[in-house]
Amino acid sequence: MRIEGRNFLVTGGASGLGGATARTLAAAGGNVVILDVNAEAGQKLAAELGPKAHFVRTDVTSEPDVKKAVAAATERFSGLNGAVNAAGIGTAEKVLGKNGPHPLGPSSGRSASTSSGPST
Ligand SMILES: NC(=O)c1ccc[n+]([C@@H]2O[C@H](COP(=O)([O-])OP(=O)(O)OC[C@H]3O[C@@H](n4cnc5c(N)ncnc54)[C@H](O)[C@@H]3O)[C@@H](O)[C@H]2O)c1
Repeated sequence: MRIEGRNFLVTGGASGLGGATARTLAAAGGNVVILDVNAEAGQKLAAELGPKAHFVRTDVTSEPDVKKAVAAATERFSGLNGAVNAAGIGTAEKVLGKNGPHPLGPSSGRSASTSSGPST
């Protein structure tokens, strides 16, 4: 696939798999629109990649957000040629621990160790 001069949208593009994808596409000469809920990290990466990159704060669970981001991406780079969907939250945890299989929710390990609110 030709990447040079083509325009790509990368969801979750501020870090992890999406961030690595954005970097790889830009290094290969592609234009990259980074969509992510993390504005600080997304803007930082877009600045690092220069004029080939553009950040749009987007929550991929929001249809209006995604429509706005696609419109912004199309306007900035005159069309889209591809999209990589990497938005999500990656956690590392045992599949089967002492208390059974891990829950399917995103914060099963974190809430127990980081909760600081009052218990009710
Ligand atoms: N890293 C791996 O080895 C691996 C392997 C298989 C699958 N995955 C899956 O791929 C996805 C990405 O993994 P990662 O390691 O890159 O995670 P990561 O946490 O490093 O990056 C995910 C990015 O998605 C963004 N994001 C989260 N919710 C969003 C939303 N609603 N809208 C827009 N952006 C959002 C986050 O802000 C973050 O920048 C996860 O769903 C993970 O479970 C990861």
